[in-house]
Amino acid sequence: TQITFQNARGERLTIDVPDGSTVMQAAVSNGVDGIVAECGGSAMCATCHVYVDPKFADRLPAPDAVEDEMLNSTAAERRINSRLSCQLVITEALDGLVFLLPDHQT
Ligand code: FES
Repeated sequence: TQITFQNARGERLTIDVPDGSTVMQAAVSNGVDGIVAECGGSAMCATCHVYVDPKFADRLPAPDAVEDEMLNSTAAERRINSRLSCQLVITEALDGLVFLLPDHQT
């Protein structure tokens, strides 16, 4: 499955990632700047914050209560399309999806 990260300067990186890993893991293992992931994926730090390209929003399940709560603690402003990338599991349905990186995570 191919996903793309776009940083705040508009630079894009497209990577091929195995299904079943999380978007956060894919970012970290591919050296994507802009994902800090301090808590290692436990939905406890909000430093893996991404904005989902609105065109793809309906391909993702809604955030659960824990993610929703933690999204109130993001360093960059929370928007309607804000998600924690550690809570997003990659499946074929996400192929082509673009994640926009906030300009800061802490
Ligand atoms: Fe900490 Fe996602 S890695 S909330």
